[in-house]
Amino acid sequence: MPALAPHIASVPASGIRRIHELASDLTGVIMLAVGEPDVAVAPHIAAAAKAAWDADETNYAPNGGIRALRSALVRSLAERNGLSVELEQVWVTVGATQALHQAMGLVLDAGDAVLVPDPGYTTFTMNARMLQADPVAYRLRVENDFLPDFDELERLVTPSTRAIIVNSPSNPLGVVFPEVVLRELLAFAKRHDLWVISDEVYERFVYGTEHVSVGSLDEDDRVLSVFSLSKTYAMTGVRVGYLVTPPGLTDVMRRVQEAAISCVSTPAQYAAIAAIDGPQDAVVAASEHYRGNVEAATALLDDRGFRYLVPSGAFYLWVDVSHASGGDVASWAERFLLDQRVAVAPGSAFGRTGEGWIRLCAAANREHLVEAITRLPAPRG
Ligand SMILES: Cc1ncc(COP(=O)(O)O)c(C=O)c1O
Repeated sequence: MPALAPHIASVPASGIRRIHELASDLTGVIMLAVGEPDVAVAPHIAAAAKAAWDADETNYAPNGGIRALRSALVRSLAERNGLSVELEQVWVTVGATQALHQAMGLVLDAGDAVLVPDPGYTTFTMNARMLQADPVAYRLRVENDFLPDFDELERLVTPSTRAIIVNSPSNPLGVVFPEVVLRELLAFAKRHDLWVISDEVYERFVYGTEHVSVGSLDEDDRVLSVFSLSKTYAMTGVRVGYLVTPPGLTDVMRRVQEAAISCVSTPAQYAAIAAIDGPQDAVVAASEHYRGNVEAATALLDDRGFRYLVPSGAFYLWVDVSHASGGDVASWAERFLLDQRVAVAPGSAFGRTGEGWIRLCAAANREHLVEAITRLPAPRG
């Protein structure tokens, strides 16, 4: 076989995949390692997908998405995100995953640096490596309430830095950045002329706080916003997301979409229209379900004396197990899976700052979630 491009070897493996593979070989495992909503897709969304298939809506769609979907997204962005955009600024993508890759590909050249949250979603680092750019971790530390430390950010910027990735509500933390922090991040980006890539896939799941879209605060066209229908509408396998760009990128976006995907599955786009324009009660119900799970889980974590982050968004619990993990939480999570039949994501999979922590997915059956927490080794006996 001829050699692969050398930089491909630098694309890191996902630390969650290992747990997932181990868990698949076992029976009776409580699976809390992946971010999969445990609710079903709403019937009107499934019906729209089926109707599209039945009507033979199976041809190529325009690169940016079918017009009716882009129009629905323009309306939704105005109503739900305070983002006033034209149709040509909204690009339908294969989930947030492709939107992220596209956004990073638009602004990063080989050798450029991009600031990524640590702990942060693994794909940020993987994408940077795919593009031969350098991911530079900015830490979200417990001592700083899991918010960015602006002194650290200033120290990390170099002449090669081109972008910062912001993910609020955050995976894995569930932290939601307040508007004042987002404004500070924008000011920081402006000072150093950086792009801001804002991953907002958990926008609709916030508890006792407001989600603010960074793009709604953008004054000088430096924000690329990444959204997804995956988590909001429990349609992770349907693969529909969207990228919102500043104005003026129509031509370049059409070209890069053509090169990358041509277009998103046409029936999936019809399902997406039904999701965006249709009744939202399933989203509200899912959010209440996750909130209830978080409350049940945190009550038990309190009882058992764990240190954890109370999530104000997304559907994860970030729990300190450093009293048990002996400085290697990845190995500990494997042992815990084998001994206790509970799959959790080791915090180190999300960056160095996650060592000693685990992420539990709270989008799960409540009894299973509570049972899993009873099996965790408590700090005091
Ligand atoms: C922060 C974050 N961004 C993006 C994604 C990818 O979402 P999608 O299914 O839309 O590709 C995920 C999925 O877990 C995520 O947690």
